[in-house]
Amino acid sequence: MNILVIGSGGREHALCWSFARSPLCEKLYCAPGNAGIASVATCLPIAVDQIDAILAACSEHAIDFVMIGPELPLTLGLADALRAANIACFGPNKDAAALEGSKGFMKDMCAKAGIPTAAYARFAEAEAAKAYVRQQGAPIVIKADGLAAGKGVTIAQTVDEALKAIDEAMNDKVFGDAGNEIVIEEFMVGEEASFFALCDGNDAVPFAAAQDHKAVFDGDKGPNTGGMGAYSPAPIVDATMQRRIMHEIINPTMVAMREAGKPFTGVLFAGLMITASGPKLIEYNVRFGDPETQAMLPRLKSDLLAVLFAAAKGTVNGFPLNWHDRAALCVVMAAEGYPGAYKKNTVIHGLDQAATVPDCIVFHAGTAKNAAGDMIATGGRVLGVTGWAPTVAEAQTRAYQAVDKINWPEGFCRRDIGWRAIAAASANDNRRGTEGA
Ligand code: AMP
Ligand code: GLY
Repeated sequence: MNILVIGSGGREHALCWSFARSPLCEKLYCAPGNAGIASVATCLPIAVDQIDAILAACSEHAIDFVMIGPELPLTLGLADALRAANIACFGPNKDAAALEGSKGFMKDMCAKAGIPTAAYARFAEAEAAKAYVRQQGAPIVIKADGLAAGKGVTIAQTVDEALKAIDEAMNDKVFGDAGNEIVIEEFMVGEEASFFALCDGNDAVPFAAAQDHKAVFDGDKGPNTGGMGAYSPAPIVDATMQRRIMHEIINPTMVAMREAGKPFTGVLFAGLMITASGPKLIEYNVRFGDPETQAMLPRLKSDLLAVLFAAAKGTVNGFPLNWHDRAALCVVMAAEGYPGAYKKNTVIHGLDQAATVPDCIVFHAGTAKNAAGDMIATGGRVLGVTGWAPTVAEAQTRAYQAVDKINWPEGFCRRDIGWRAIAAASANDNRRGTEGA
């Protein structure tokens, strides 16, 4: 098959890296891709929101299957357009992508289907929202309804903070139209995990779990980012927890979406809070996570292209997914200043040396080559360095071995990716030691 991947981040590099090794893959294209992706795929200069240009590229290159990476083209209806043109694709139609595109839609679906999630109320009016906050008290969570590039959520510790967040979203319009409506939620306590299920419209199969680090600095300090690192598997999602997540959250969602006439095809990415009473849904994304994908795919033994194609064709049920018995951990290297303003076009050295580290791969998220042929940074998140090993702790060592060979003075990374899993594992070891003694 000729394959086209839509996107340009580390997630898309990891997808292309996996597809390139599939015996089903004849020619591999990526639009628009990046300098790292160019080592495994032919990059086409088409932006992810240019639906007509993507359709034209599909016929020009005789594309058999399109894998859509980011949410933007999904919410714009790229999957609908491809299906209408009889091109197989992985990703939900526009109306099903509302699970990510509208928090209100997602919450109403959960309420109707009895899916565990934070208690909530929706508001289109600032005064009514404020009255609700005064009545509920703090801590409380204020969310812009629409897509706000990950910035639309305020965890308010006080009522005043919550009132301010309502004003910013609804009166000052700091998130534009995404804040015309807001959702106010109960504050949930627990440990967060990301869970991924592959869906074919009717059925869903569990893929994998991961945990990411959203805060920019070590110790989970500083502003939130798209993700500074991730690891998989997530120790908190054991086999029992996975069964509960499928049974209580993913499967009821598939039924509810089918019944609503919006069958979901693609990957359901559940952001979960694992609370004392079980898993609760924080949010849905309708795409693979970034950087979670860079930490999940190196664990996958099965042919990723084959299973995603099966999901696109409605035959994912019973597809045998095999995993290596190992952990993988991805460290994101970002441009100094990210998630605020950062310098572009700084030169990155040492990628060849990093490539010599065994059981490790450097995924590119925001790179290009300059006229002199140097690798340069073109985005906020620039590289995702993934190591794999029998344990998360060893995978962390691997990843930082490669990070330390990369010479990029204008870049930075967190040095503690995986800390929670590593601390939990060593606490377990200690307990076992004591029991044995
Ligand atoms: P979201 O964009 O909805 O994933 O929210 C961003 C982050 O805010 C999540 O990863 C959680 O850490 C936190 N969060 C969102 N909703 C809640 C909630 N109801 N209770 C506690 N934390 C939340
Ligand atoms: N890493 C979180 C996301 O992809 O949304």
